[in-house]
Amino acid sequence: TARTLVLLKPDAVRRGLIGEIIGRIERKAGWTISALELRTLDHDTLEQHYGEHKGKPFYEPLVEFMASGPVVALVVEGERVIEGLRALAGPTDPIAAAPGSIRGDYGVIVRENLIHASDSEESAERELKIFFPGRF
Ligand code: GTP
Ligand code: MG
Repeated sequence: TARTLVLLKPDAVRRGLIGEIIGRIERKAGWTISALELRTLDHDTLEQHYGEHKGKPFYEPLVEFMASGPVVALVVEGERVIEGLRALAGPTDPIAAAPGSIRGDYGVIVRENLIHASDSEESAERELKIFFPGRF
């Protein structure tokens, strides 16, 4: 079975949406949460995580935002979780995201789009090692 790294971003935590978002994940049949932690990320961790975006105009404000308060990091395992979590989240721009998706239901601003989910098996394995070293 597949596994993926999910982050509930600082806006989701500040707005009290942890339960709402985790509830949507839990209600998907056959998916399991196998790690879960509330944590404030440092710049070093974020540089590893978002390294592919370094040099882009949105990179610095993205890192500032992601370090602005605690996130919830979780590992979800199960059938087709990588594509499944991307579908639950919706597209990067919340205004382009359909109602019913997490970003579509709760987001407006591209940066403050509530949730991260790994975009491929390779990304998932790389990100799991950053956030839960020694466990995955
Ligand atoms: P993540 O799950 O957070 O990686 O989002 P994503 O995979 O949907 O998007 P991507 O990896 O391309 O970008 C990472 C994050 O950078 C996004 O979630 C946004 O918060 C932010 N971002 C991406 N593109 C833009 C942009 O054009 N403008 C701004 N302001 N932020 C952006
Ligand atoms: Mg991404």
